[in-house]
Amino acid sequence: VNQNREQWGSRLGFILAAAGSAIGLGNIWMFPKTAGENGGGLFVLLYLLCVMVIGVPLMLAELAIGRASQSNAVGAFKKLTPGKPWFLTGGLGVLAGFLILSFYAVIGGWILIYLWDSITGLLTSQGMNTLTALNEHFTNRTTDPMYSILFYFIFMALTIFIVYKGIGEGIEKWSKILMPVLLGLLVLVIVRGLFLEGAMKGLEFLFVPRFEDFKPETLAGALSQAFFSLSLGMGAMITYGSYLKKNQNLPQSAVQVGGLDTLIGILAGMAIFPALLSINPDISPADMGGSGLIFKAFPQIFLEMFGGNALFAQIFAILFFVLVLIAALTSSISLLEVVTAYFVDERKFKRSHAAMIMGALIFIIGIPSALPTGAFDIVSSVTYDYMLPIGGFFISIYASWVWGRNRALIEIADGCKCFKLGILWHFILRWIAPFVIFQILLGKILIDLKVSESIRTTLQTVFTYTDAVLIGGALIAGIYFWFFKPASLVRDEKE
Ligand code: PHE
Repeated sequence: VNQNREQWGSRLGFILAAAGSAIGLGNIWMFPKTAGENGGGLFVLLYLLCVMVIGVPLMLAELAIGRASQSNAVGAFKKLTPGKPWFLTGGLGVLAGFLILSFYAVIGGWILIYLWDSITGLLTSQGMNTLTALNEHFTNRTTDPMYSILFYFIFMALTIFIVYKGIGEGIEKWSKILMPVLLGLLVLVIVRGLFLEGAMKGLEFLFVPRFEDFKPETLAGALSQAFFSLSLGMGAMITYGSYLKKNQNLPQSAVQVGGLDTLIGILAGMAIFPALLSINPDISPADMGGSGLIFKAFPQIFLEMFGGNALFAQIFAILFFVLVLIAALTSSISLLEVVTAYFVDERKFKRSHAAMIMGALIFIIGIPSALPTGAFDIVSSVTYDYMLPIGGFFISIYASWVWGRNRALIEIADGCKCFKLGILWHFILRWIAPFVIFQILLGKILIDLKVSESIRTTLQTVFTYTDAVLIGGALIAGIYFWFFKPASLVRDEKE
């Protein structure tokens, strides 16, 4: 073990940092929107299944690989299986980190713009509270380089600053401050919204499954969303796991981080929909899509929420965008950390240099995404739809087939002596996760290649049912092992 390598100072510090990576725009911006578009409660249900059956096991694999190797995303594979090309999986991850951050920080810049507009009072001024005005405002701001590039730059600078400081003094310290503040602010926003008349409609929208809205893509959407939201498939959790001490309970950590991430996604939905639908019952799903939700639809109701009181509305707007900013920042630092750790460990950069140079490069690469060029959509969809699932596919194959059950379970046994679900975990990574991810990728490729509608629907229906059987089966097996833990399996784990 490298003596100079930094480590997390405490268990809680690590959990908050990892949860900080997971909790981000994926939860506050995308989760409510995707849930809304995909049949609300039904999507939420499928999402929970994906997180439990595929997401959390994969997170455990990443954490174990990271801790076992005490190395960055590329170095981890090199150390555990020297001389094999598996390090390319980590390379794909570092590249994904590079690309994701290049558009993630653009949204971070938009959040800063809106925070600025809240502070000056512009966002809550009379006349701003219509969808048309806000639409126009959004377009003006995001296409004006003075704003979009400048604030994008500031967001990136904040990210670099924290990563520059390192693990304990930077990422851990800031996560410990920012995550509790985030939760507090979110609760505040929820409470205000739930007391509005007609707020129940929003809860209904979010939680009651509308089965008639089901499309085969719903499951695929839930899985991609789970990957992005849990920061999986690109080595972020390998990197964060590599700063762990040996005695941390990894399965418990994966469950806690996955649980917190899911909780915040659901809370974000509860913060936004009740308020939005109570004041604007007829809003169309189209207006809630994409950047619409937090930049257009939601700001529209700030004034009304406080009966036209501009001061309260303004304070509320500021709190709201501070909340979103915190969530985004604790995620963007994990993206930069994946890249930085690679250059520090493998290329012998000084941490400060790696963070600044790579941050600057990512900033430059992201400039087209910050301007109305269409680059944003391309980069975000390539990473979200393809790179993360492909990364997740290879990581689960690697952990289960290459690194192997014994080595993985021995690593996990440090800090968790009686991992009842060890065998099932291995089985999921070996068969279920790769299979489900593969089908979902294939489904996306079919759409992108514009394969004829009828072939696609048939295939996707078949896929969806197979996936449902696999995921449901794994869940039932998990419940069985957990409650009835067959003696033979437990003995196996103690070896
Ligand atoms: N999980 C983060 C979010 O939900 C995004 C992210 C993806 C961060 C991948 C790191 C790695 O916003």
